[in-house]
Amino acid sequence: MEIAQKNWPWVEEYLKTKSALLVPIGSNEQHGPNGLIGTDHLVAESLARAVGEDMGLLVAPTLAYGMSHHHLAFPGSASLSPETLIRVIRDVVTSFSRNGFRRFFFVNGHGGNVSSLQSAFSDILADRPDLRLQIASWWLLPEVTAQEREFFGNENGHHATCGEVSVTWHLYPESETPIAPGVAPDPETEWPVGPERYRMLFPDGRMGSNPFLSTGEKGRALFEIARKSLAERVRKFLAMDGKH
Ligand code: NI
Repeated sequence: MEIAQKNWPWVEEYLKTKSALLVPIGSNEQHGPNGLIGTDHLVAESLARAVGEDMGLLVAPTLAYGMSHHHLAFPGSASLSPETLIRVIRDVVTSFSRNGFRRFFFVNGHGGNVSSLQSAFSDILADRPDLRLQIASWWLLPEVTAQEREFFGNENGHHATCGEVSVTWHLYPESETPIAPGVAPDPETEWPVGPERYRMLFPDGRMGSNPFLSTGEKGRALFEIARKSLAERVRKFLAMDGKH
């Protein structure tokens, strides 16, 4: 149920009975030597679309760029500054709200977006008490982290994790790229760090992960868990008032 593949009369009809929109948001940043640069937006997009199918809800075009300044010393990464991202989120929400959308559920794939999302939400809601806004970061869902612990023990890591690499291999099997076993360094340091310091501290881009343990099959299991858990959260979010 992607908005990009509908026409306006279809959307107008949808808005007669529903006011919810799922918005995938991610990043375009390095994910270690064998992870896809698009990992964060590709996973958020696939999850949002799956939940949209499950629940009969429209999905907005993916916000593929996020706040990824710390990854800019790796080729292929591109980032929005926090103030740009806040404005993008605000403009997207207020545009769709003019059409009649009132409930916005952001499916987030990237930790660096959370503070900008929260700032944008605070700004929007101060002016628009009629709107409801929610974020769910898929990799933080307790059902997902429990399964990741079972699959990867304490080697899942914090960036280019075994879990997210596995999910991309489930979604894009042709991208599966083997890597030698080994846990990437994950020194305790100040945060955030700048791009050059990040690359010095985390030389191949990973933080504490061992994606040798990743498989598409584990990715399929994690994806299905996240899909179910997100659908449950969307259901609760929409149940707080009558019109979906
Ligand atoms: Ni990621």
